[in-house]
Amino acid sequence: MKQPPRANPFRDAWCGHLSAERAGSPARVAGWVHRRRDHGGLIFIDLRDRSGLVQLVFHPDSSGAAFAAAEQLRSEHVVSVAGDVVAREEGNVNPTLPTGAVELDVKEMEVLSGSATPPFPIDEDVEGLDETLRLKHRALDLRRAVMQETLVLRHRIVKAMRDVLDERDFLEIETPILTRSTPEGARDFLVPSRLQPGSWYALPQSPQLFKQLLMMAGYERYFQIARCFRDEDLRGFRQPEFTQLDLEMAFVEEEDVIEVMEDVMATVFSVGDLDVPPPPWPRMGYDEALRRFGSDKPDTRFGLEIEDLSEALAGSGFKVFQGVLDAGGVVRAINAGAREMSRKDLDGLNEVVQRHGGKAVAWAFVEAGGAWRSPIAKFFSAEQLAAASAVLGATEGDLLLFAADQAPVAAGVLGALRLALAERFGLVPEGAHDVLWIDDWPMFEAVEGGALTAIHHPFSAPTGSWDDPAALRSRNYDLVLDGIEIGGGSIRIHTPEVQRQVFDVIGLDAEEAEARFGFLLDALRYGAPPHGGIAMGIDRIVAILAGRDSIRDVIAFPKTASGGDPLTGAPAPVDAPQLRELGVESLVEPATG
Ligand code: AMO
Ligand code: AMP
Repeated sequence: MKQPPRANPFRDAWCGHLSAERAGSPARVAGWVHRRRDHGGLIFIDLRDRSGLVQLVFHPDSSGAAFAAAEQLRSEHVVSVAGDVVAREEGNVNPTLPTGAVELDVKEMEVLSGSATPPFPIDEDVEGLDETLRLKHRALDLRRAVMQETLVLRHRIVKAMRDVLDERDFLEIETPILTRSTPEGARDFLVPSRLQPGSWYALPQSPQLFKQLLMMAGYERYFQIARCFRDEDLRGFRQPEFTQLDLEMAFVEEEDVIEVMEDVMATVFSVGDLDVPPPPWPRMGYDEALRRFGSDKPDTRFGLEIEDLSEALAGSGFKVFQGVLDAGGVVRAINAGAREMSRKDLDGLNEVVQRHGGKAVAWAFVEAGGAWRSPIAKFFSAEQLAAASAVLGATEGDLLLFAADQAPVAAGVLGALRLALAERFGLVPEGAHDVLWIDDWPMFEAVEGGALTAIHHPFSAPTGSWDDPAALRSRNYDLVLDGIEIGGGSIRIHTPEVQRQVFDVIGLDAEEAEARFGFLLDALRYGAPPHGGIAMGIDRIVAILAGRDSIRDVIAFPKTASGGDPLTGAPAPVDAPQLRELGVESLVEPATG
């Protein structure tokens, strides 16, 4: 707390500010009963406000009516107390508490609120509390010190972002929440219009088109702490509504955006005491990331890089590998190092492989003299084994893992195995953090049926030859921290012709493009500057800096994996008249419970 509270009937000081210098003076504080102890006729209470804890002491003979009232106090009751700050006797000083040298000798107390027994303890950090219970009683959960520390950190991170960008002439501008679809690859959340029955707003998946319009409007440098909405399947690091640091700049190329974001993020990392090297941060092309790490968000804090054995193991009698090679696929492998794994554990890896669309994984242990102990060793000549071992840098005791498949599947499979092994064997050095940019992305990817879709969004500027649109690259860059995508952006298309071409490739004909994105195409016709930008996932960044496994722990009021909010009961059915007014009818009976 930077300033004392204004003195009022509740308090004139923060609990956490009562220190030895104040000994001998009166003080009034207010807060929650954190813990109560009865001791040799005295009652001790740790009183808590946002600033911290202070110990209250109630004497049977000098605290008057307050003593009797204190006997009735329970955890989380709310009180205002007045008394004298007194130095504790030497043996009673608590060095772990900032206020541990003093206590407040209470003369008067007003009980402001009672409290039912909390469903979980507030005064200790219990591991494994039931999350649904925590979310249902979020006002209590957020009282816990670990949650307060996290939300304070979040505030400081967002403030640091604002400060750096303000210094660098960015303007914070809000964009609409009720809008048209802004495609980022997820489903839209829709809101029916009462005034225009039959028409719907979409909630923004990001402010993408508005920030581009702001560049066309001449604002040069925009940012926003932007709420985004995406109706997608939720996992640990995804929420249906989440917050981005969104920015856009005019007359820029990649280096300009990256330099600004490195400045912002280096500041953010220092706020969160995250030990990363100073910028500029390394860049890696998308193809290289996939080839070496099997991921477009590689965790580069440990080795186990993927090697290609297609050449070394070609022409063998092993039908599985040869069949894949004949079909234009690849054989790739990782050297997992000297590890012990049982047959059963090795078989268990197939589950990881299959989850990533692969068929199976083959394994080998390197024995003394370079021979392989492996069910597949017999299919290969000694020369082939030696060549493969050389590519993998294999030595005695090493475990080698192989996947044969089409290149993208093999990459995904081995990328996932790499992470699974790192987790299992604790391969990430304690406290290590690694940040890097992934650039030089493909513009499009094929979806089922062979149609092309933009890998990021269809507003990124493509590079390369239009003779083969499927092979175009895009001017995208993602920022990856410890194997997590924390942000991404691009240089944008700034001519209506190129924008139309891209729409055409993704199957939006001129009429449909005009209907959905006419406002963008129109603005592009009136002098659009070259521009580009980026958006960072604030929830993910705070979670990493706070050392939390879930972004739900860094959002004051998050949703569960099924998109629900146990606190308010959202989403909830609405009654028939409300739907009628909106011109909407429900086809399903809402689930109860
Ligand atoms: P993108 O879709 O990559 O880019 O989003 C930017 C960053 O937002 C975070 N993020 C999420 N965080 C929590 N829950 C989610 N469901 C979620 N989805 C994304 C990630 C991601 O890197 N308009 C572009 C940016 C641009 O081109 O400027 C965009 O939204 O950390
Ligand atoms: P099989 O001949 O099908 O019993 O397979 C022999 C070994 O090859 C087993 O260890 C399988 O797990 C493994 N295997 C099968 N398909 C693949 C593949 N696509 N990539 C890597 N290993 C495989």
